[in-house]
Amino acid sequence: MFGRRTASVDAPAAPAQARPKKPAPQKAPAKPAAKKAAPKPAKPPAEAAAAPPRIAPPPEAASAQPVEIGGRSDEYFQTKTTIFNALIDTIDLSQLAQLDTESAAEEIRDIVNEIISIKNVQMSIAEQESLLQDICNDVLGYGPLEPLLARDDIADIMVNGSSRVFIEVGGKIQLTNVRFRDNGQLMNICQRIVSQVGRRVDEASPICDARLPDGSRVNVIAPPLSIDGAALTIRKFKKDKLTMNDLVNFQSISPEGARVLEIIGACRINTLISGGTGSGKTTLLNCMTGFIEHDERVITCEDAAELQLQQPHVVRLETRPPNLEGQGEVTMRDLVKNCLRMRPERIIVGEVRGPEAFDLLQAMNTGHDGSMGTLHANSPREALQRVESMITMGGYNLPSKTIKEMIVGSIDVIIQAARLRDGSRRITHVTEVLGTEGDTIITQDLFIYDMDGEDEEGNIAGRHKSTGIARPAFWDRARYYGREGDLATALDQAAD
Ligand SMILES: Nc1ncnc2c1ncn2[C@@H]1O[C@H](COP(=O)(O)OP(=O)(O)O)[C@@H](O)[C@H]1O
Ligand SMILES: [Mg+2]
Repeated sequence: MFGRRTASVDAPAAPAQARPKKPAPQKAPAKPAAKKAAPKPAKPPAEAAAAPPRIAPPPEAASAQPVEIGGRSDEYFQTKTTIFNALIDTIDLSQLAQLDTESAAEEIRDIVNEIISIKNVQMSIAEQESLLQDICNDVLGYGPLEPLLARDDIADIMVNGSSRVFIEVGGKIQLTNVRFRDNGQLMNICQRIVSQVGRRVDEASPICDARLPDGSRVNVIAPPLSIDGAALTIRKFKKDKLTMNDLVNFQSISPEGARVLEIIGACRINTLISGGTGSGKTTLLNCMTGFIEHDERVITCEDAAELQLQQPHVVRLETRPPNLEGQGEVTMRDLVKNCLRMRPERIIVGEVRGPEAFDLLQAMNTGHDGSMGTLHANSPREALQRVESMITMGGYNLPSKTIKEMIVGSIDVIIQAARLRDGSRRITHVTEVLGTEGDTIITQDLFIYDMDGEDEEGNIAGRHKSTGIARPAFWDRARYYGREGDLATALDQAAD
């Protein structure tokens, strides 16, 4: 079916450049063995061939041992390269790419098996299977990224050029032994990812957002903007979202705190979730939406759909970036404004970044109680400042006092999430917005996370403390919903 290859668009460059990395076969005795087994001090060809960086990249933080992903031996990589060479000599990869994945994989499987028997390569069935898988990943999938994408415990994948791939696991960033053959292969894979959303990355348009079929969010920034090869960042989509119970088990919040959050969610209190990147804002927003009643009409607006609401009456909306001609963009503001014409009871905004802040506040102010959103800020106070500056920068030309009054009139509670330096995620504040006094917005904390110190392993010790407020400002609302008893009990227990 596939003749000898002609010009192949997608053929990875010279596979003779085997991966230079020497992964040790086993984890435990790895260190000394690995050093001895790499006798040639000469640079591996792949590195020599790659364009030398104009300025040497800074040494990465703490030169810790890279984490081994799917330990493979040098022999394995050599065999794979030989077989890969023979494969791309035999088939036209660009034609192969036009088949559906299953047929293409079948095709590859047949040819590879044939090559193995012709070349009389000795390998076990298991090795042969993993070789087939690797080759299919390279040709059809996301190559060296596949084993990382398959792991559910990884939150983020960060590729800084072809030879440095980091992952975030359990709140900590680690270097891995995953490498791309060269920057060419990395760019091919970036291209493959973004082409799925009808985009292209190249020198002319080197920045691109995209999404993997599983919902993971991707950002690519390519050379020349990214100096040492393309930088690819993937926020993995978690199928099994954490629940409020998980957050309690992880000590991200105390059980009493969680109950107060439940009351906040159920009693339709307007809430902003604030936090840094990866602090758990979206996760927390998802948990908070779990307290929405099933008879409410909810509309969600997101840049990339991440929320998983369980209620039956939900409309999910997503923004759209402009196409290659710069047209067709639908912004968050467009969505939030449109929402208001859709008879929503609650509006949930995945991330508030710009002028849509105004529309969300208006919605909160005009009977869409219990609306929620997240924003990027490091404290509740900073969150309020950010909302104000988003409105100011949106060109609404309102006096600061008016904006502040609008903020106070709409936002009831700010929940602050943080990723601490030990990698743990905590809710550090549950704060009420009370009113204004002159030019200042007055807030009151209901809960705070108090850090005591660190244990020997560097884990941060601390606890959630109630600030002793027995009657929060949303007390009457809780009473209206018949939850004041629960609220009193939770606050009471938290105060002990
Ligand atoms: N409380 C938590 N404990 C442990 N992991 C968490 C917690 N909250 C979030 N995570 C994980 O952290 C990663 C980032 O969370 P996410 O909610 O997307 O952050 P953000 O929206 O602030 O960028 C996800 O993989 C998520 O599962
Ligand atoms: Mg988020």
